[in-house]
Amino acid sequence: MNAPQTRSLIAAGLVVRDAVAADLTAAHTIYQHYVLHGRASFEEIPPTLDEMRNRHAHVLRQRLPYLVAEYDGQIVGYAYASAYRTRSAYRFTVEDSVYVAEGQQGRGVGRALLAELIVRCEAGPWRQMIAVIASSASGEGAGSLVLHERMGFRNVGVLHDVGFKHGQWLDTVFLQRELGAGSETPPVDA
Ligand SMILES: CC(C)(COP(=O)(O)OP(=O)(O)OC[C@H]1O[C@@H](n2cnc3c(N)ncnc32)[C@H](O)[C@@H]1OP(=O)(O)O)[C@@H](O)C(=O)NCCC(=O)NCCS
Repeated sequence: MNAPQTRSLIAAGLVVRDAVAADLTAAHTIYQHYVLHGRASFEEIPPTLDEMRNRHAHVLRQRLPYLVAEYDGQIVGYAYASAYRTRSAYRFTVEDSVYVAEGQQGRGVGRALLAELIVRCEAGPWRQMIAVIASSASGEGAGSLVLHERMGFRNVGVLHDVGFKHGQWLDTVFLQRELGAGSETPPVDA
């Protein structure tokens, strides 16, 4: 399956590229906001910048993509893939994470990042991508659900009330998308 094409901001100068060490301060600032003020992440205490660097290095060690979106010289979002679960039979399945800077949402940044993340993962040995999205009756996670559905993910289930953050119970919605040949052919071990 091909990733849907990116649009809008790409034409207007949005660049999606591999993150380098110098980008992690901006990624840290973006993520910190959502840890402190949002419910998309189930972390409640922001990681330090050093921990953010460690996480970036961990992604790269697994040869997975860690991307940033840059617009007009500013990092406006980031996305990465990580192992869905660590036990070895899960090794062809990844989980995606996408965070767009507060104030930059709704302009195509998330779509551009996720589209490129899918392309990068399809170029590797991975065959399934999972999104785990925090959701609540009050509309939490709506943007992320739409983004993933637009990018070809299908809803495969819900865990109810497994999180509690900022005074609210949270579900996690699981969405899944095949990468490349999916399960049509056996995987090629990297
Ligand atoms: C969720 C998030 C990544 C989406 O990125 P974004 O740049 O705002 O989304 P885009 O502008 O690329 O929009 C992609 C699609 O989702 C839709 N969408 C985005 N936000 C939406 C919202 N709040 N409600 C409904 N639809 C929304 C857009 O209309 C677009 O659909 P279209 O292609 O039919 O026009 C971003 O809002 C964000 O970082 N949110 C907080 C953190 C988060 O939830 N991360 C996901 C964790 S996996």
